[in-house]
Order: sequence, then C-alpha cells, then structure tokens
Amino acid sequence: MVDLSVRLGRLSLSNPVLVASGTFGYAREMEGLVDFTRLGGIIPKTVTRLPRIGNPPPRTIETASGMLNAIGLDNDGIDYFIQHHLPYLRSLPTVLIANIAGKNEDEFEEMAALLAPQSGIAALELNLSCPNVSGGVDFATSPDVTARVIRRVRAACPFPIIAKLTPNVTDIVPIAQAAADAGADAVSLVNTFVGMAIDWRRRRAILGNKTGGLSGPAIKPLALRLVWRVAQHVKIPIIGVGGIATGEDVMEFLVAGASAVQLGTVNFYDPTASMRVMEALPEYVAQLGATRLSEIIGSLQP
Ligand SMILES: Cc1cc2nc3c(=O)[nH]c(=O)nc-3n(C[C@H](O)[C@H](O)[C@H](O)COP(=O)(O)O)c2cc1C
Repeated sequence: MVDLSVRLGRLSLSNPVLVASGTFGYAREMEGLVDFTRLGGIIPKTVTRLPRIGNPPPRTIETASGMLNAIGLDNDGIDYFIQHHLPYLRSLPTVLIANIAGKNEDEFEEMAALLAPQSGIAALELNLSCPNVSGGVDFATSPDVTARVIRRVRAACPFPIIAKLTPNVTDIVPIAQAAADAGADAVSLVNTFVGMAIDWRRRRAILGNKTGGLSGPAIKPLALRLVWRVAQHVKIPIIGVGGIATGEDVMEFLVAGASAVQLGTVNFYDPTASMRVMEALPEYVAQLGATRLSEIIGSLQP
C-alpha cells in the first residue's frame, strides 16, 4: 500500500492530484466522466467580485505547440457563485479549493470576507496571475503586491491560502518567497505563459485579445524548471501546474519538488486523464521503493 496523502500548510489532501482552475468548469460539466472521490480536490473557474463578460472572440486557438487562450475571466461574479455553484460544489465528495481574482487589493479582501462564512471550502487559491484581463494588474509580477494581497486575504478569512503565480516574470523566486513570508500555505506554479498567434495573410492577431496564455504539454518543461527552482529556495509547499497529462508527468513534478499537482488543458482533450493518472500513481511511487509521497517530493539527485 502506498500512502498518497499530502499536507500543503494547513490543507490536507488524500492524494496530490487536483484539477486546475478554468479547465474543469464548476465541476457539473465533468459529472459522469470523473469519479470525484478519487481526486485530491477540485479548483473551479476563477470567480471575480462582479460578473465579467470576458474577452472578445476568438478566445482560444490551438497552435502547433500548445493551446493559446484569452478567456478574460468570463464568470458570473461571486454572489452568483455563492448562490448557484457553491451548494453543488460543497456537496461533492472531494476537497474544494475556491479560486478568486480581484481587480485590486480591496476586491481580494472583500471576496475573502464574503467566502469566510461559507461552509465546504477547504482553501482559497488566489489567481494573482491571469494574463488576459484587460486593464487588470498582474499582481504576481511584484513581490510587494503579492505579499500585501496575501496578508489582507489571510486577515479576512480562515482558509489556507494558495498563491497562484505567473511565469511571466524575470525571476519567480523572490515572488514565491514573498508569498511564503506573507503567510501563504502553498504556491501554485504556474499560470499560462503569454504568447501570440498571427494570421499573416490578414495581418491580424488571431485572438480577439491579441495575446493569450500558452498551456498544455508544450509548457511542461518550462513549468518543471520553475517548480525545481522555487523548491531550491522557498520552504512552503509547491503545487506544480503546466502540461501535466500522465502519471509519469506527475512523478516528474514530485521529484522536482512539487508536493501536489494540477491537471489543466488535458481536461479539454482527455477529460478522464485525472482518473488514469490516479490509477498509475501508486505503482510509480512503489517503483521508486517508496511507500509515501513525502519520500519522493524534491528527491531529485544532485
Ligand atoms: C481555457 C483556460 C482557462 C483558464 N482559466 C483559468 C482561470 O480562470 N483561473 C486560473 O487561475 N487559471 C486559469 N487557467 C490556467 C490553468 O489553470 C493552468 O494554470 C494553465 O493552463 C497551465 O496548466 P496546463 O498546461 O495543465 O493547462 C486557464 C487555462 C486555460 C487553458
């Protein structure tokens, strides 16, 4: 028997496999395809203070090496989330990690306070890193802003806090360190890499937003390296995200230093991938002669 349970600060999971925000809807869409009891947890689509219509179409394009998206945080706002999505999400037999994004620091704090009295939420993931919100600020490009948002959210709610960071920075380490110093329980590494697709005949950007975030297997080596780098310097647990599609991918992230992982784009082209990953994981852990996940995490040889 292999013990897959994992602790991320104040958050405990029965296994390290989560599904990434924005790629699993509000979970209703996946009912019948995924056995929720087998997931470590669910992170539904980012919720904002007020409803947002998102970016103009087209919002997604498949490139030769990865998916580009510029959804622009299309969602119905936090009041609708609490009334219509939360009752369903909290009824599911798995851990729920709500994901929020504010337009400014006040909104982050306000949303944390609105969720604080709600039951059924195990943790909050702060989307500090959406690259597609026009006029918005990419909070996690600054260590100071990252720290301030985390401190204010911590003071406003009792939930464990996961800071989801952007890879679109010169060096992610000081930002992850600032998140740790401000009291984040864990960091999610990473959101999408900003990119672009062009129709040269029409001399037009293909996405309505012109730029978008690249995701899928193409970004796995990039995300893996960022997880490994942060793991060398920052003490809080890391949740690896980026191109993960198989049990072997999960093992690579664990060895690099991630304590848990999120499956994202793979949910679009293979909605049952999380189930296959869960199937494979115990055997891979056993192949390394380990009986617990903790023996694998960050075990990359020098
Ligand atoms: C269509 C799409 C929508 C996304 N929406 C969100 C979102 O609402 N909030 C968020 O934190 N991340 C969002 N992401 C980013 C993913 O959660 C994940 O960090 C990223 O795609 C990298 O992982 P992957 O390569 O496994 O997809 C979105 C990604 C995609 C492809």
